[in-house]
Amino acid sequence: MSLATPELRIDDRVNDFVTRPSKLLIDGHWVEADSGKTFPTFNPATGEILAQVAEGENTDIDKAVQAARAAFDQGPWRRITTSERGKLIWKLADLLESHLEEFSQLETLDNGKPLTVARVADVPLAIDLFRYMAGWTTKLEGTTIPISVPFTPGAQYHAYTLREPVGVVGQIIPWNFPLLMAAWKLGPALAAGCTIVLKPAEQTPLSALRLGELICEAGFPDGVVNIVTGYGETAGAALAAHPQVDKVAFTGSTEVGKMILNAASHDLKKVSLELGGKSPNIVCHDADLDISIPGVASGIFFNHGQCCCAGSRLFIEKDIFDVVVEGVAEQAKNIHIGPGLDPTTDMGPLVSDEQQQRVLEYLAAGLSEGAETVVGGNKVGGQGYFVEPTVLVNTKPNMKVIKEEIFGPVVCAIPFQDIEEVIPAANDSIYGLASAVWTKDISKAHRIAAELRAGTVWINCYNIFDAALPFGGYKQSGWGREMGHAALELYTEVKSVCAKLS
Ligand code: NAI
Ligand code: MG
Repeated sequence: MSLATPELRIDDRVNDFVTRPSKLLIDGHWVEADSGKTFPTFNPATGEILAQVAEGENTDIDKAVQAARAAFDQGPWRRITTSERGKLIWKLADLLESHLEEFSQLETLDNGKPLTVARVADVPLAIDLFRYMAGWTTKLEGTTIPISVPFTPGAQYHAYTLREPVGVVGQIIPWNFPLLMAAWKLGPALAAGCTIVLKPAEQTPLSALRLGELICEAGFPDGVVNIVTGYGETAGAALAAHPQVDKVAFTGSTEVGKMILNAASHDLKKVSLELGGKSPNIVCHDADLDISIPGVASGIFFNHGQCCCAGSRLFIEKDIFDVVVEGVAEQAKNIHIGPGLDPTTDMGPLVSDEQQQRVLEYLAAGLSEGAETVVGGNKVGGQGYFVEPTVLVNTKPNMKVIKEEIFGPVVCAIPFQDIEEVIPAANDSIYGLASAVWTKDISKAHRIAAELRAGTVWINCYNIFDAALPFGGYKQSGWGREMGHAALELYTEVKSVCAKLS
């Protein structure tokens, strides 16, 4: 494989954006961090510094929360009509669409993913999410409720509910889909009428900052969206603990999710969490292998395995085990690894030096515990954070590679005898984010779907997302659902109003 030189011309606006140091968005203004400090973000394809970004800390978070608080409590935001709110969100989607190529390039440069993927997945899904959520602003209705109160005989009441925004929301997002994660968080919060402090991942802050410019351009009132870049241990922790934040929404590692919960427990803020996964992908002997083999390969190798829902435990019925493993290995061999800007690239680098190291350590642990590599298993090239797509076999249920989330292009193939055996094995995980089953037998597919303890079950497909379809985890994969109308519940409170009529 070669790390081909990209021929693509970088959009002037992208060049311009990465060469000017990025600031923090607080109360509608772009400001430097209080400390004056900046930190670098790297191009994962080369390991070179891509841009300098303001390093927000405690005091910057505090200013941003104050701005969000004022915008929520006193600002024009709560007085504008729901229709106007919807129009603003829709306008943001339109602006994003008119900058699709620019955002795709920015995402590829900062995260490493193929430009061909960012153009058709990350950016369009973000646009669609904003449009979907724009439609909800006018539909957040309460209900009227007939009540019969036993201790006030004869009295009549008019009772109803209101659905109100939860208030100031702190949102902490990861680096695997930087723009899309920002959209998943901002979209429903804005639709509900909340105000926000967003803390992007330190590895990939650029697209959220550029989105911040579009948010200003769209005309959202000052302080409605504040963006503070910085590290998790400083800026992130300060946001999760801030007493004037009503709710924290987090996507990232289960380990940090637990820290967020701890921080939020002091004043019992609302918390929603979208955490890790170790998703089972089950191929039954009656599956159509022509679609299943590429399907399960893409279920793990898409986004280089850096997906919380990656199908990382591949259960294959015994009589087709060898043919599926060979097929997936063949798919892996045909994946063209290279810089994301190269149009022939199927798989780019992992996001960071640290992530490359983490994945290589998992591979070493797997081999030392007795797993075997069918294909892949190594890092690639001298520069950049590339790792080969890898298929492991001969794993045991208690191995690290089976139990823990690797978050890299590594799949463990596991044979199974029958459904009775595979269901408990598939559910044998602390996680429960996603899962899939491949079979032509419709009733078997739905039976397995009912048994799997996971927030999503795909049947004869994988990684299918839609702004209308809720996504989230059972067990230690998280709390709450993103997307769909379920996401609005994370950002609203229900108020009961009860009036005595006589
Ligand atoms: P992480 O959980 O440390 O980072 C995610 C976000 O949380 C970033 O914005 C980070 O700055 C922030 N953060 C970190 N420590 C914090 C703290 N103490 N308080 C508040 N915010 C904090 O994830 P990391 O270290 O980048 O990746 C480690 C592993 O996490 C990955 O290998 C993968 O297994 C998992 N992960 C899961 C993701 C998902 O989509 N569920 C996304 C990213 C990582
Ligand atoms: Mg971390």
